[in-house]
Formats: sequence, C-alpha cells, structure tokens
Amino acid sequence: MDLRISPSILAADFARLADEMSRVPTADWFHVDVMDQHFVPNLTLGLPVVDALVAATDTPIDCHLMIEDPDRWAPRYAEAGARSVTVHAEAAADIPGCARDIRAQGSRAGLALKPGTPLADHLDHLAHFDMLLVMTVEPGFGGQSFRTDQLEKVRDARRELDARGLELWVQVDGGVDEDTIAACAEAGADTFVAGSAVYGADDPAAAVTALRAAAARACRH
Ligand code: DX5
Ligand code: ZN
Repeated sequence: MDLRISPSILAADFARLADEMSRVPTADWFHVDVMDQHFVPNLTLGLPVVDALVAATDTPIDCHLMIEDPDRWAPRYAEAGARSVTVHAEAAADIPGCARDIRAQGSRAGLALKPGTPLADHLDHLAHFDMLLVMTVEPGFGGQSFRTDQLEKVRDARRELDARGLELWVQVDGGVDEDTIAACAEAGADTFVAGSAVYGADDPAAAVTALRAAAARACRH
C-alpha cells in the first residue's frame, strides 16, 4: 500500500511559508488548512495564499476547506492548482456536486467528516470522491490530542471501501504523531496529515521520514 505523509503548514511559520515547505523535501504533499471563522472558530488563509503556495513548490498541495459554502468555493481552489481539495460533509449543500466540480478542474476530490459525523450517513457519497478524510480532532486548531475513538470510523471506512471495490485514499488529520500513526495505519489509513509532529520537530524532513517508517511498520503487521 502506498503511504503518504502530508505536513500541515498550519504548524509552520506563516511569515516564511515557501521556506518552510522547502525545509521538508521528504513531504509527499503539503496540507493547507483553509478556515473561515464561520465553519470553525479560527481564520487562516484563502485563495490568494494558495495561489502563492502552488507557485512556490513542485510538491502537490492538498487543501482542506473548513469553510461554509464549499459548493461555491471548492472549485476555485482546484482551479488555483490545489491537486486535492477536500470539503466537509457538514458544510456542503450538494456533496456529489462538490466532487464533480472539483474533479472538473482536474483535481482529486476529498470528503471530510468531523468526529461527531457518522460514516453511515455518507456511504452513498463515497463513490463520488477520491479521498475520505476522517478527522481525528475537532477541526479548527493544530496541536490537539488525537481522538482514539475515531479509529473505529477509519476501520469501518476501509472495510466499506473494500466491500464496494472503491479505491479512495483514507486520510487522518489531527494529533497524528510517531505514537499515534501506527494505530491509524493498522486501522486502514494511508494518508497522514501531521502539523506539530513535523514542524515542531528539530528536523522536520527527518520527522516525515520517521512517520512514514512507523506507518509502514504498522502496515506490515
Ligand atoms: C485541524 C487541521 C489540521 C491541523 C493538524 O483543524 O485540520 O490539519 O493542522 O495539526 P496537528 O498535526 O498539530 O494536530
Ligand atoms: Zn487539516
């Protein structure tokens, strides 16, 4: 199974984002948290900054939209060059429509579920997407503790995807570090967002390599 580590630049120095990305050549993707202070109680960055990030790196950008009205905005992030754009199921009015509009711009489409949102409510939506994001913290802030109660959702997701013959990536986001990544990989995640665990490390590039190795070891078990 291919494993992907996506450092979240939410934990990087916002005054030097291009440098912060080039410090981590081991990253498979960069995860960009877009927050609008409405869907979540925090405000980060939007389209102009994503435009600049896309221009500043050859590594693909994964935009996690924690915003209201993703139906309107998600295709704009894909158009800006984000190679993956994820919308929250709780925010989208037309979930399959969001996936269609993101894919129409040539990007991968992701569907995110907050910890309190049951997978069962969205099983029929999975076929429209390229990735399912199981949030392992309440979205809004970096540096929170990993919620082990979400591992069951990861396991259920992997089982349902296998049963349906769907090849979505399963991403986990929030509190993922060298201690928690193994359980995520064992449960069936293959795409791992890590903010504090990467940018809080003395050597962020080595931290990504260590995370990937820990996930790979867990998969072999
Ligand atoms: C939280 C964001 C995460 C955040 C993860 O709402 O979606 O991507 O940056 O940060 P850590 O890895 O520090 O929990
Ligand atoms: Zn995120």
